Amino acid sequence: MKRVVFIVSLFVFALQAKEIPLSSSKVCQKCHPLIYKEYKNSMHAKASIFKDPLHNAVWQKHPDRKKGNYKCKKCHTPADTALKGLPQKNEVQLHEPISCVYCHRIESIEEHTKSNVNVLDKRGDTLFGARAAQKNRKDVEYGLKSSFFGLVKKEHGSPFHKIDFSNENFYNGKVCMGCHSHKQNGHGFSVCKTDEHMSEKRNCITCHMPKVQGSFSTIKHTKTHRFHGFAGVSVAEELLSEYVKMELKQGQNGYDVVVTNLAPHELLLHPMRLGELRIYVYTNGERTLVKKYAFFKVLGKEGKPSAPWEATQMLKNTQLRPERTKAFSLGESVKKGAQVEVVLGFYKVSPKIAKKFHITDKELLRFKVLKTLHKEL
Ligand code: HEC
Ligand code: HEC
Ligand code: HEC
Ligand code: HEC
Ligand code: HEC
Repeated sequence: MKRVVFIVSLFVFALQAKEIPLSSSKVCQKCHPLIYKEYKNSMHAKASIFKDPLHNAVWQKHPDRKKGNYKCKKCHTPADTALKGLPQKNEVQLHEPISCVYCHRIESIEEHTKSNVNVLDKRGDTLFGARAAQKNRKDVEYGLKSSFFGLVKKEHGSPFHKIDFSNENFYNGKVCMGCHSHKQNGHGFSVCKTDEHMSEKRNCITCHMPKVQGSFSTIKHTKTHRFHGFAGVSVAEELLSEYVKMELKQGQNGYDVVVTNLAPHELLLHPMRLGELRIYVYTNGERTLVKKYAFFKVLGKEGKPSAPWEATQMLKNTQLRPERTKAFSLGESVKKGAQVEVVLGFYKVSPKIAKKFHITDKELLRFKVLKTLHKEL
């Protein structure tokens, strides 16, 4: 009997040792320190109500809170697998609500009307990666390769996990679409939606995780690695400014600023954002605002603005459309010879909406600049 128990427990141990827990981002730090550092500062590491004041402000007013049902967990804290009911302040919620292993185990995306579902790989000891030259390799294990008749030994693979390079979703950006594609509220209305128009050359990964300086691991060395701070409205927006073009051109009535949004989605996505195009003219070194255009969405019900969970229609949407160009007039007062400055930027929360949700955090209320253009007409 003792022997049977021993063998069974050994078997269970072997199984457990194989599976890498979803909440083990700290372990990755040892061999992927730069990526870990960037990740810690990303919105994915801060997506819980305990770390994201904006998410928390909306949650506090959300009707599901009274029902004790934190449905947001599916996308905001999927690594906290023990969570039932309301979120508790624990290590996963605080440090890795969307963890390294969670993303790197997304095998496929199931498409659904309300919101998509991430299907995780069953093996548990294998992480997905992308390397075009090894795309046919599903099971890269750690080992030493001998060459020169055994005189030189070279390490290959990772001592901590196996790697699968064959998952198409890690090349074309689809891996992001389990959470970012769309979300319907209880009335079947999509409160957010990210259009996808992707190729291997340009997709969510290539724009939001651009290659930046520094090795991806301490064992195998590379010049660059993919940025894990996830450039967006909260972090490193400057890495995205090249995807918006601005030009000053002679239009039908005076001059225009011609803006091109190269992103495959509306320039700003979340309905709480407010974008602004501000046009200034300098006279004797003094800057005067002569024109302002606003980019925003208004969700509503029966023709009136409403909370997102009550909305049934889009009342207004002035966001810059995906892969489109639009001209904005400087106004007739701006004449040839004028010193013009054009600023395209945004508020993470529109000041009006911030008031409704009692948001006072200075960082959230700051106007951030995405792109500036100076020119003498
Ligand atoms: C289907 C996945 C999904 C679900 C479910 C979900 N969210 Fe989100 N949420 C996202 C994504 C993706 C973003 C980032 C979008 C962006 O920045 O444009 C986000 C961003 C937000 C933001 C803006 C945060 C910021 O710092 O800018 C708020 C607020 C928010 N969600 C509230 C909620 C609440 C409250 C719930 C639950 C009632 C919820 N979400 C459920 C996917 C989801
Ligand atoms: C003991 C060191 C070590 C630890 C711990 C470790 N890794 Fe790795 N990892 C490596 C090495 C080395 C490679 C590169 C192997 C190769 O190229 O042959 C690698 C490769 C990868 C790749 C594939 C890279 C690509 O090119 O696409 C991913 C993804 C990855 N690791 C994620 C993780 C995650 C997530 C964790 C934490 C759960 C982790 N690693 C922990 C050493 C480690
Ligand atoms: C498990 C769900 C999930 C997956 C998978 C996911 N995201 Fe996110 N992402 C979120 C949520 C939730 C937020 C909002 C967090 C917050 O602000 O509270 C977010 C925020 C972001 C932001 C930051 C927006 C800002 O405020 O600056 C960017 C950029 C982003 N994601 C890009 C990506 C990319 C690129 C991928 C694919 C490689 C990806 N995400 C995969 C859930 C996910
Ligand atoms: C051609 C480059 C490009 C591609 C491809 C791209 N984006 Fe973006 N994305 C941008 C730009 C530019 C912004 C605006 C950033 C800003 O204002 O700081 C942005 C903003 C975002 C934001 C923040 C918007 C908000 O309101 O919070 C999220 C989230 C995001 N993108 C997700 C994605 C996802 C998911 C994909 C893949 C379907 C994707 N992006 C593909 C360029 C791109
Ligand atoms: C939101 C999803 C997401 C999260 C969270 C995430 N990654 Fe990644 N990671 C990706 C994607 C997508 C790629 C690009 C495809 C590839 O190379 O695997 C990538 C690339 C990598 C690579 C290869 C980098 C290179 O430059 O070639 C390593 C290593 C890695 N991730 C490790 C980690 C570690 C460690 C963490 C946590 C500290 C982490 N990832 C968190 C989605 C994610």
